[in-house]
Amino acid sequence: MCNFVKTLCVLLFYAVIAAHICAAQIKYPTVLISILARNKAHTLPYFLSTLEKLNYPKERIALRIRSDHNIDNTIEILEKWMVSVQHQYHSINSEFIDNDSYADEQGPNDWSKLRFENVIELRESALNYARTSWADYLLTIDCDVFITNPNTLQYLMAKNLTVVAPMLKSSGLYSNFWFGMTDEFYYQRTKDYKPVIYREKLGCFDAPMVHTCVLVDLRKTESDYLTYVPDNLYDYDGPRDDIIAFAVSANRSNISMTVCNEERFGFIMIPLEQDDTVDFDMLQLTNLKLEVLNEQGKLFVRDDLKEYTVLPDKDTLNFDKIFMINLLRRPERRGRMLECFDELGLEVTILDAVDGK
Ligand SMILES: *[C@@H]1O[C@H](CO)[C@@H](O)[C@H](O)[C@H]1NC(C)=O
Ligand SMILES: *[C@@H]1O[C@H](CO)[C@@H](O)[C@H](O)[C@H]1NC(C)=O
Ligand SMILES: *[C@@H]1O[C@H](CO)[C@@H](O)[C@H](O)[C@H]1NC(C)=O
Ligand SMILES: *[C@@H]1O[C@H](CO)[C@@H](O)[C@H](O)[C@H]1NC(C)=O
Repeated sequence: MCNFVKTLCVLLFYAVIAAHICAAQIKYPTVLISILARNKAHTLPYFLSTLEKLNYPKERIALRIRSDHNIDNTIEILEKWMVSVQHQYHSINSEFIDNDSYADEQGPNDWSKLRFENVIELRESALNYARTSWADYLLTIDCDVFITNPNTLQYLMAKNLTVVAPMLKSSGLYSNFWFGMTDEFYYQRTKDYKPVIYREKLGCFDAPMVHTCVLVDLRKTESDYLTYVPDNLYDYDGPRDDIIAFAVSANRSNISMTVCNEERFGFIMIPLEQDDTVDFDMLQLTNLKLEVLNEQGKLFVRDDLKEYTVLPDKDTLNFDKIFMINLLRRPERRGRMLECFDELGLEVTILDAVDGK
């Protein structure tokens, strides 16, 4: 009997401790991730795979995905991915429209009037959806972004800023922020830009514009003033452009936009010009993948999305043979070079080097 009471007391003791531990834990803030995808079949396998690696509880993340006006298999890839992951996330809200091209566009990379209007509407409705569904945060992220640092989301949240972006690296000088804006609301290069891009200066910096991958803290009252719709801005006669309207609404509401480069967060594709082809975008993707390989190793791709990644056929660039000479005792260099050859489509013969020592 005595033993029984003792056991009961011990059990009770642990139950009380356990209750305390549970009570002390706070759930992660809820995040709505808004994804707009158009003709991104070539980047989606990397985008979706890296997104999934974010070190954040997926049951605290809801996804809102929209895709329309595609000429490639963007929707097929999104649907396949959603089926595999939907049970992990809090919810997925998606709408796909099988719609070839806008009536007024010159080609898939033309930012026509109808396209801008559609994108403005899509972004604003995502923002309002996040607000009305009581999400704590909205992360808007485009499909040509590869977040390679899994702690990015938590890092940005810890900054406690209303609008904040992780600085993303491209294969050129392009990035997801501006440091200067003209009186006509256009991009202006400033002398502070390069040291930040090259991470010679580290920190979080106010910027007149952040875009493409942006975290908004919707719990801050001031975030209610943010909008992507130019018509919502009093006395505004600038371009009918979603990100410019957003930046102007922030500025007029005295909300700082901030870009952080203290850590390496990930990579971004350079957007296409109107006359660029999809083949050109494939080349840019290859460039970027090589950049990633060089900095931190191969971009992660989920097994079930590998079939959608495209590598060039291999040849020897019209030479009889291409050789690589490499010491057997440096396997990591050899491995990295072999991965580069796969990306570049180079048929290479390897010679084991003789160690002069
Ligand atoms: C497809 O896009 C065109 C042009 O933007 C639009 O007029 C049409 O209503 C769209 N179709 C659907 C099914 O949404
Ligand atoms: C976050 O910022 C708000 C002001 O926007 C401030 O009131 C609050 O104390 C800050 N929270 C932390 C944990 O620093
Ligand atoms: C704008 O924000 C800054 C910094 O938070 C503050 O010092 C200033 O008073 C604000 N201005 C207005 C008009 O609210
Ligand atoms: C708004 O823009 C003006 C002019 O570029 C700038 O001086 C000011 O700091 C901006 N305000 C915020 C909150 O970023």
